[in-house]
Amino acid sequence: MTTQLPAAAAGQFLIGGDLAVNRLGYGAMRVTGKGIWGEPADLAQARATLARAPELGVNFIDTADSYGPYVSEDLIREALHPYRGMVIATKGGLVRHGPDIWKPLGRPEYLRQCVLMSLRRLGLERIDLWQLHRIDPQVPEAEQFEAIAEMHKEGLIRHVGLSEVGMAQIETAQKYFPVATVQNRYNLSDRQSEAVLDYCEQHAMGFIPWYPLAAGALTGPDSAAAQIARRLNITHGQLALAWLLKRSPVILPIPGTSQVAHLEQNVAAATVVLSDEDYAAVSAQAA
Ligand SMILES: NC(=O)c1ccc[n+]([C@@H]2O[C@H](COP(=O)([O-])OP(=O)(O)OC[C@H]3O[C@@H](n4cnc5c(N)ncnc54)[C@H](OP(=O)(O)O)[C@@H]3O)[C@@H](O)[C@H]2O)c1
Repeated sequence: MTTQLPAAAAGQFLIGGDLAVNRLGYGAMRVTGKGIWGEPADLAQARATLARAPELGVNFIDTADSYGPYVSEDLIREALHPYRGMVIATKGGLVRHGPDIWKPLGRPEYLRQCVLMSLRRLGLERIDLWQLHRIDPQVPEAEQFEAIAEMHKEGLIRHVGLSEVGMAQIETAQKYFPVATVQNRYNLSDRQSEAVLDYCEQHAMGFIPWYPLAAGALTGPDSAAAQIARRLNITHGQLALAWLLKRSPVILPIPGTSQVAHLEQNVAAATVVLSDEDYAAVSAQAA
């Protein structure tokens, strides 16, 4: 099983306590153009990458309406609809005015439009996991959370996630709806969200670390991590992903790529067995 469906070797997590996914997922932000704007330079490769994901056992894909914008959701539908047991997690609440420009917009009527349009683009009647991409600092949190709670109650959204939040914001949001997942930047060399991750583990919330491969800082050629990767015959990126999977059972890494070969390499990290000693050595070096 694990040779054909390597993502399954990462084990499963139950999003919101009832939605099982293999813990090693895929982030579909990179199937877009430069600056996450427009179509990808190699459209055929982007399509092939998406189509390859389920063949590797990936059944958790992260996207957002703002990736492209719309390009990532449109390509996901084209390649994977009707999804056959895959969970497509999307996000809303950011507007785009050009390449690399991202602006929060959390007005309730806009958040509703985000969800309705993601449903239409993805060809779904309910979004399994919809994440508020950013809390808009210009709009009262209560208004944003109330709008989301309403869509959750109506059944447009099955589970709700937040992105780039602290513990106080998670606790406030929980008064409006159950927070199923938190998506914050986190990787071996950037552990600012350590306390939020621990909080998620204590409360059985999924923690989705974005930018999971930014492991550059840990790996000089003579570093402990480089030596461990060489001994295990794996790449630095695979070591960084294996480290995340071992760090906590609530972590769902979503490495992003636009290339089939990179997807295959990343998903193979689910099969890496990292001993406690190696895990400790890598943790200590990159801390
Ligand atoms: N919530 C948020 O605010 C937020 C922000 C950013 C991202 N995200 C999500 O998190 C996902 C992951 O983040 P990310 O894409 O920024 O960072 P990442 O997964 O750490 O790294 C992706 C980058 O690494 C390259 N790469 C991937 N696999 C590789 C491999 N095996 N060998 C060599 N290079 C490789 C990719 O280029 P190639 O395309 O050439 O492989 C791409 O440039 C995104 O796709 C998105 O879904 C969320």
